[in-house]
Amino acid sequence: MSISRPSTPDEPLNPETPSTSPASAESASSGSAPRHVAIIMDGNGRWAQSRGLPRIEGHRRGVATVRRTTELASRLKLDALTLYCLSSENWKRPKTELDFLMHLLRQYLIEERRTLLEQNLRLRFIGRVDRLDAKVLREVERTQKLCRDNTGTELVLAVDYGGRDELARATRKLVQDALDGNVSPESIDESAIAGKLDTEGLAEVDLMIRTGGDMRISNFLLWQISYAELWFTQKCWPEFEDADFHEALADFGERTRRFGGLVSS
Ligand code: IPE
Ligand code: IPE
Ligand code: MG
Repeated sequence: MSISRPSTPDEPLNPETPSTSPASAESASSGSAPRHVAIIMDGNGRWAQSRGLPRIEGHRRGVATVRRTTELASRLKLDALTLYCLSSENWKRPKTELDFLMHLLRQYLIEERRTLLEQNLRLRFIGRVDRLDAKVLREVERTQKLCRDNTGTELVLAVDYGGRDELARATRKLVQDALDGNVSPESIDESAIAGKLDTEGLAEVDLMIRTGGDMRISNFLLWQISYAELWFTQKCWPEFEDADFHEALADFGERTRRFGGLVSS
């Protein structure tokens, strides 16, 4: 994965997908538009509990936000939208909550297939697959198969995902390649590592959003967000609206990304 070259605020990051005109209702911003947005969808449980509801109700409502946000990302022609659905650390939660999350994922995949096709969304899963329930895994595979010829925005679902785990798995693959004599240690550079990550081939993450008020990364995309712009909101995921997404995109458009270099005045 190469580090993108510096861009100025006036220069779209994605020439094929120019930032939409300011007159458009779906305009991302007057400045640069991100190609890849990643979201830590946090605050479901607190949203529910503050309304006297069980935590799982927050997860259920969160799925509606996933639908809306994905549709908006597709309309905005983002290259990729990555959503943090379950972290490798979330297995510490009570079994009842985990069972419900697995049930929701399975239902989402079954119910969303038609929409994924209509919206021409590509679908990728990142994270481990070996710890997922066989019933869920079956729907993951079916849905991916169905979407394999789509060409639009790539929806990336991070399920049982941990940034450190991903790096450890990538390292194992590289060491195995070296032991097999297929790579020499001297040839292992940034792009060799990026090529072994679950996100291989995806555009750099330009913008990372976290809902729910906490300002931390929680083991999400540690490698991939090295130069991402970060945007936090107090709003919990179930109450995150299109207007909030637009606000984040507009804010992104105002940022000056230097990538370690200098921006000429
Ligand atoms: C995020 O919401 C969804 C998952 C981690 C699965 P939480 O369940 O973490 O909600 P809060 O942060 O406890 O409110
Ligand atoms: C991050 O939220 C994981 C997901 C949104 C899937 P957490 O609720 O697990 O993060 P912490 O525990 O507050 O760091
Ligand atoms: Mg949380």
